[in-house]
Amino acid sequence: MPSKKVTLSVIKADVGSYTGHNRVHPDLLQQAGESLEAAKNKKIIIDYHVARCGDDIDLIITHHHGVDAEVIHRLTWDTFMACTAVAKRLHLYGAGQDLLSDAFSGNVRGLGPGVAEMEFVERTSEPIVVFMADKCSPGAWNFPLYRIFADPFTSAGLIIDPKMHEGFQFTVLDAKKDATIKLSCPEELYDLLIFLGASNQYMVTEVHRRTDGQIAAVASTQKLSLIAGKYVGKDDPVMVVRCQAGFPAVGEVIEGFSFPHLVEGWMRGSHCGPLMPCAFHEANPTRFDGPPRVVAAGFQLADGQLVGPVDLFDDPSFDEIRRKASEVAEYMRRHGPFQPHRLPLEEMEYTTLPQVMGRLKDRFKAGKQ
Ligand code: 13P
Ligand code: 13P
Ligand code: MG
Ligand code: MG
Repeated sequence: MPSKKVTLSVIKADVGSYTGHNRVHPDLLQQAGESLEAAKNKKIIIDYHVARCGDDIDLIITHHHGVDAEVIHRLTWDTFMACTAVAKRLHLYGAGQDLLSDAFSGNVRGLGPGVAEMEFVERTSEPIVVFMADKCSPGAWNFPLYRIFADPFTSAGLIIDPKMHEGFQFTVLDAKKDATIKLSCPEELYDLLIFLGASNQYMVTEVHRRTDGQIAAVASTQKLSLIAGKYVGKDDPVMVVRCQAGFPAVGEVIEGFSFPHLVEGWMRGSHCGPLMPCAFHEANPTRFDGPPRVVAAGFQLADGQLVGPVDLFDDPSFDEIRRKASEVAEYMRRHGPFQPHRLPLEEMEYTTLPQVMGRLKDRFKAGKQ
């Protein structure tokens, strides 16, 4: 009998926070836990874990309904609605921020929440890492995903492990044209980097192992501004990576975050700053609403049960990386309103800056004068 597939769904939203955009209130996390516990008791889902990074709630759910299942998307939508009601009662900031519609129509994609889902046959031992970020956009995963799945200086397994040696295939989304391209590494590595380097427009959606097509990683790519047509907060993405025994080791996956690379987001979603990997309790973007944060929750699956989480960045060997991130944050801050700290105008299109600029448009006269 073929083994039964399990689906891992990570669905996230910011439905209100305190103080300002700093962190999720514990009452919202409790509400989310109660909603998912009820679904578990009814056997709609196998297991769940409620996490947060900064002001975003992350619902980590295992079930047998497959990817894009209405029953799971409805459950998460209803859970976020219930959390919004709590946020409204507490007058939290941005209550219901990421729920861009009043009407659920079968799938949360396109309605605001970020979604990363994968379906696979659970291995005898199935280590997975769920990454959750705040104050940044989905393009933030391009750099670590490249390092983890295409760079042998990060993942020794690309050289040593026969199942990894064939390389990985990256699916890359053009968020502006809503089209995807598949590129296989190592052969198409240079082609891949054309797109991955332009992380405001192109973002990795999935990574597959080439020996057998197995899914290795999936990332959320929802761009709120492209959905809403205006600034409603940054997208604060999530990502799931399968590890070990033919996939990168947990330590190789974590090593992908050993350089605090610059990402878009931070204050008002309008600034470029370093992505700081931190422990769960330190995922509170505070200085200038940042710098952007990422946490890593490690799990083992046991017949769909989530054994964990392990707080993987809660490690003194990441102290220097956090210090470097703080140093880079200070350096970037000293630019004040100047690029490249502030994002280029095309990225400010959905903020309130065009309104302010609009007031001055008649003051421009043709030529140098
Ligand atoms: P507001 O204070 O007008 O909300 O703008 C700043 C911000 O935090 C954007 O979400
Ligand atoms: P979030 O996208 O995390 O809600 O942050 C919005 C913001 O404007 C921070 O300054
Ligand atoms: Mg917010
Ligand atoms: Mg956020």
